[in-house]
Amino acid sequence: MEERKISRERFSSGLAVFFATLGSAVGLGNIWKFPHKVGSYGGGAFLFVYLLCILFVGMPVMISEFYIGRKTRKNAVGAFERLKPGSPWKSIGLMGVGAAYLIMFFYSAVGGWVYSYVWKTLKGDFIGITADTAAGEFGKTIIGPIPPIFWQFIVICVVSIILILGVQKGIEKITKTLMPVLFILLIICAARAITLPGAAEGLRFLFHIDFSQINTEAILEAMGLAFFKLSLGMGTMITYASYYTQDNDMIGTSAKVAISDTIVSLLAGIAIFPTVFSFGMEPGAGPGLLFITIPLVFSKIWLGNILLPAFFILASIAATTAMLSMMEVPIAYFSEEKGLSRTKAVLINGIVIFVIGILAALSADEGALLGQFRDPLLQKTFFDVFDYLSSNIILPLGGLFIAIFVGFMIKKEDFIHEISNQGTLSNQKLASGLYFVLRYVTPVLLIIVFLNMIGIIKLA
Ligand code: PHE
Repeated sequence: MEERKISRERFSSGLAVFFATLGSAVGLGNIWKFPHKVGSYGGGAFLFVYLLCILFVGMPVMISEFYIGRKTRKNAVGAFERLKPGSPWKSIGLMGVGAAYLIMFFYSAVGGWVYSYVWKTLKGDFIGITADTAAGEFGKTIIGPIPPIFWQFIVICVVSIILILGVQKGIEKITKTLMPVLFILLIICAARAITLPGAAEGLRFLFHIDFSQINTEAILEAMGLAFFKLSLGMGTMITYASYYTQDNDMIGTSAKVAISDTIVSLLAGIAIFPTVFSFGMEPGAGPGLLFITIPLVFSKIWLGNILLPAFFILASIAATTAMLSMMEVPIAYFSEEKGLSRTKAVLINGIVIFVIGILAALSADEGALLGQFRDPLLQKTFFDVFDYLSSNIILPLGGLFIAIFVGFMIKKEDFIHEISNQGTLSNQKLASGLYFVLRYVTPVLLIIVFLNMIGIIKLA
């Protein structure tokens, strides 16, 4: 077949594999979704549920995606086609491509706000601001039509350019350079935060253990967050693993990525909450926390004027490296399955994401027509519909099918053979246990969560 002749790129080393995969996992989710959810759903108790989701669902699904990708060396759709030719299984890949778009639509909008804040904080726009002016600045950022659309366009351009450069010269080079920078900036911000007076209260908010807040909603949120955070259920990891080196220890990579990603999320929480609490501010939800409260409190602390741009630079790195992996899903699909050149695939996808993404960008402005629009079913804005459908429904559903696919359609010996790198790693027992989990634990847990969501059973 024609497509097999296409020579595929690969990451050049184990380190490149690690940083690219971590770059996908670490994103706005760590800074924007994770700390807030932990704080509002019972702190340490939510963290415990989240870690269980990662261990019994997230990591098994991640390793399954690695298996599918590296074994076939194909994009998310072509990979299923290669393993089970002519079967409906490739629809999982297509659903993943669809989910990638939904996420890109709203993610690029938030990415745009973050980029605009990098620019504003570097210019010193936030020096000496008050609560009112901070809210006003955020208003200027999200009120359209021009500023949010302009910055969304810039983000999509940056991501597109890196993707056009390719897997090694683009994705690998950028993630290998920027992920360490992100870590360093984050550690500096967290260290400053915990040395503030009153920091203990912020840490308590993040780490208090209150199991009474673990209800159905919290469990669903923890599961959705695990999928979103680790970029699972939509073929991102299938696509990246199709570029992995042949000798990569995939169980090891998944453990390293899951642990590092959780550390980044916790550090982000440690950078945010002590600072917020030491000024007696509300830990508030989503965008307000990141774009109003953070600039406000950082502008008041010693070294804050340097730390504030640092904080937004690290957020922009996180957003960019995560978007690379999201967009790579349709790019790999279109270039391998539909015969487009990589550049053409990037340009067409960039335009589609930009045009439809405007719906999400403008729906964040409550004063605008789009901001007042609610869909008839969920009563949410475009922004929230894209977010809700993708993280809480499509990703876990994709994960369920991926686990079932590997657990039931792939022979145990084949799975173990690939995961142990043709027997060169001595992890056969672990791989065999993992296969068991993929068959009997992961799908069962996911089905329970789904049944619970649609109200057929009641968990908590
Ligand atoms: N993991 C990314 C984050 O936390 C988001 C993401 C989801 C990236 C799905 C790729 C695929 O922000």
